[in-house]
Amino acid sequence: MQLNKVYLDNSATTIVNAEVLKEMGLYFSGMYGNASSIHFWGRRAKEALDSSREKIACLLNASIDEIFFTGGGTESDNIAIFGIVNAQNTKGHIITTKIEHHAVLYSCQHLEKNGYSVTYLDVDKDGVISLNDLKQAIRADTVLVSIMHANNEVGAIQPIEEIGIYLKTINANRKNKVYFHTDAVQTAGRVYLDVKTLKVDLLTMSGHKFYAPKGIGVLYVKKGTKIKPITFGGSQENALRPGTENIPYIVGIAKAFNIANANLEEDDRRVLFLREQLKEGIIKKISEIIINGSGSRAVSNILNVSFKYIEGEALLIMLDMSGIAVSTGSACATGFGGSHVLQAMGVDPVSAQGTIRFSFGHYNTQDEVDYVLEQLPKIVEKLRLMSPVYKKF
Ligand SMILES: Cc1ncc(COP(=O)(O)O)c(C=O)c1O
Repeated sequence: MQLNKVYLDNSATTIVNAEVLKEMGLYFSGMYGNASSIHFWGRRAKEALDSSREKIACLLNASIDEIFFTGGGTESDNIAIFGIVNAQNTKGHIITTKIEHHAVLYSCQHLEKNGYSVTYLDVDKDGVISLNDLKQAIRADTVLVSIMHANNEVGAIQPIEEIGIYLKTINANRKNKVYFHTDAVQTAGRVYLDVKTLKVDLLTMSGHKFYAPKGIGVLYVKKGTKIKPITFGGSQENALRPGTENIPYIVGIAKAFNIANANLEEDDRRVLFLREQLKEGIIKKISEIIINGSGSRAVSNILNVSFKYIEGEALLIMLDMSGIAVSTGSACATGFGGSHVLQAMGVDPVSAQGTIRFSFGHYNTQDEVDYVLEQLPKIVEKLRLMSPVYKKF
């Protein structure tokens, strides 16, 4: 079978949906006003801003004044973390996990260097934290718990609702509240998100993971949350995220989130079916592999596989030459193929080097999975024949 290109890197980013692009187009040319201007163009921009906020709020079961538009997932994570700690009088304690995205992990490390205390929770072999560990980690001076909803490398889903319930219970008897933030970049548009069910105070989303453009995000902040801005300027976004609003992108993220939620169940079923086809095919056709995470507590679109005795980067390049786009998870830097996530999950460092993340999306097809299953075994075999480690094995 000859296929042109197969895109299996939807957790890195997605194509912009054609309907989304069309709607955004209006706000680049005809309706290009500044939402702060009081003339006709400004009013049209403000209407688009308000209705986009309303759409997102409604889908998250939040109120409109709890939705803040940002420049993406990284910025939302930073505003959430620094915004909460800066609003406290003392340098308190933060709890996060060892497998967060660098937007959270490096923010916490930065705070640690500046006198804050941080606990990084361990995860099990499937990439999931233990609620008990979290309970043990809470201290009198804990101000923030930041735990991602689903992991971007292996798809592991954390028990956000259970954590939310627990924090709500202890907060009832505490002088200083423990705020709860979740980075939902990998679940927004793929899983229904209801901030009341999840019991979070802050939630991060990024448009480019669900068919909106790159560079637009949302931060949900529960009413009453003590938070300070990290940038200063105008009064846009209630002065929490000052700067002229990016109306075309805001319209885009709201439209894309709407479409993603409307198609969610059907997409989830289809993507899960394709992922399982690929997984079963790999298990059947290729020996010496490890499936990382992907237990029952994982998002349906990610398949993370370690191919023993070969380098993930070499495999990625050869797949790319066959027109198949995948990812290794993180850039190769340490003995773990650069992956702090696989390291935390206890994957042995040699196997971790040969890891590939396949991530599915709305536009993938059965033919594409068949094509990957035709190419992948040949490429793995070729690389193993060149591998001195494999020869020894
Ligand atoms: C879990 C997670 N958090 C945060 C981000 C950063 O989002 P953005 O690319 O919009 O800055 C990503 C991006 O891959 C992610 O997967």
